[in-house]
Amino acid sequence: MDQSYNTLLVETDEQGIAVVTVDRPDKLNALNDELLNELAEVFKQITIDESIKGCILTGSGEKAFVAGADIKELRGLNEHHGRMKSQKGQQIFQSIEDTRKPIIALIDGYALGGGAELAMACHLRIATRKAVFGLPEIGLGLIPGYGGTQRLPRIVGQAKALELILTGKRLSAEQAKQLGLVNTVVPEQSGMEEAQTLMKEILKNGPLAIKEAMRAVYHSGEKSGYQIEAELFGKLCNTDDAKEGTSAFLEKRKPEFKGQ
Ligand code: CAA
Repeated sequence: MDQSYNTLLVETDEQGIAVVTVDRPDKLNALNDELLNELAEVFKQITIDESIKGCILTGSGEKAFVAGADIKELRGLNEHHGRMKSQKGQQIFQSIEDTRKPIIALIDGYALGGGAELAMACHLRIATRKAVFGLPEIGLGLIPGYGGTQRLPRIVGQAKALELILTGKRLSAEQAKQLGLVNTVVPEQSGMEEAQTLMKEILKNGPLAIKEAMRAVYHSGEKSGYQIEAELFGKLCNTDDAKEGTSAFLEKRKPEFKGQ
């Protein structure tokens, strides 16, 4: 874990708790390709490094955990590249969920789109009072493409998941807690302390039981929907509506969708 990254900060303490901070604060930690590659690499290291017992994943800066996939990289994708992008993100997020060491997301700001999906791929979620959740992809002419259409219904139930995905509306930390999307809401300044306390409470237990409990809980997960999600995401990337939605965001104007 002594590797250095361009878009992540990584620190490990003497108890084997790694803190990984997504670090693109000027773009609200949006997930560009480099960042996704580095996330894949760091979680590979966390998996193989026996001295690491668990990980807290958070975001840099005052405003965001992660504000989603980098919309600049989505604009103009054709169907093939859109599907590939979705599958790549899905695989990396799956590798995070499959890490059999507890991963706690500490969300202290926006967790939108791919950011909410990243938080959902973590095993537990702690939000500070200023956290904001949402899957706004629909407003870009898209759908969640990094596992959100599969994990959100699993976590909050199908009806609420559909409501959130179809409206793209945002939730406060307290609303997210009511839905079971986050485990706890804590004051802003004590987020890291609370995440550390929860991690230590887990790590007091036997590592084998922790690992197998996680395996058992996730065993029930249905994975085939991911393929459908990636196909649809790819198809939508190639539409005029997605080009309009992503362009409108980048040009700071309201989108005009034509349904084509
Ligand atoms: N992608 C690329 N750039 C982004 C970004 C994103 N997802 N989110 C924010 N940024 C950039 C902005 O373009 C801006 O850059 P410039 O300074 O160069 O203009 C910078 O970060 C700061 O953002 P804002 O000025 O917009 O900050 P704000 O405080 O006014 O608004 C916000 C904050 C409400 C989070 C707003 O930035 C926003 O709506 N972001 C987009 C959220 C979103 O739609 N996420 C979903 C992305 S699609 C996705 O994730 C697909 C998938 O599932 C795979």
